[in-house]
Amino acid sequence: MMLEGETPDLGRVVVLISGNGSNLQALIDTAQSKEGLGGEIVAVISDKADAFGLERARQAGIPALTLSAKDFPNRESYDVQLARLVEEQQPDLVVLAGFMRILSPAFVLKFNGRLLNIHPSLLPKYKGLHTHRRALEAGDEEHGLSIHFVTEELDGGPLVLQAKVSVTVDDDEASLASKVQVQEHLLYPIAVRWFLQGRLQLISNYPALDGTPLPKQGVLYQ
Ligand code: GAR
Repeated sequence: MMLEGETPDLGRVVVLISGNGSNLQALIDTAQSKEGLGGEIVAVISDKADAFGLERARQAGIPALTLSAKDFPNRESYDVQLARLVEEQQPDLVVLAGFMRILSPAFVLKFNGRLLNIHPSLLPKYKGLHTHRRALEAGDEEHGLSIHFVTEELDGGPLVLQAKVSVTVDDDEASLASKVQVQEHLLYPIAVRWFLQGRLQLISNYPALDGTPLPKQGVLYQ
């Protein structure tokens, strides 16, 4: 029971970015909205000092940190320091929001079950880069985004949420990216809130929502 004047413990979220940070902004806006995110973004960490997302964090009063890969001899040593920095924040959840680095197995293992990623394709299609271009080149009629728990396999972790967008004849890479991002900004806050409310969990490496295992493609949002 909560006593009068007590505030509930908010989940602590660390967001990792590399660039524009529009997904970070969607999370910040949701956290500041009446509905809320179900938790608090306690730090934003970028591997690029000039990432615009860092400015978005500062504007929102969130500590904005940079850990540049240039200062480390290899991926493993960078990831050890990144893990330290993240751990210092005592996160309940680590959110990759356009963090464009491959994470080492040790990092992934440390945050197993509390590490989410968003990817601009309907996984398992188009893992890796240039997803919009590849969807156009393949003549796909639909494209989309995926939110998944992160495992050692690049863009291969269990799916939580997907949304589709239609590809039209006049689409180019930029227009398709915009369509996908509109959906990303809607869905990432939903997935993060599910997690922070304790509704979304990774149980024995399978994602479950409200205790029910999710289908292989996650929840299809429409
Ligand atoms: C997003 O579209 C996200 O899906 C993608 O980077 C973009 C970041 O945009 N992530 C990946 O490609 C990861 N494989 P943002 O910085 O404006 O949020």
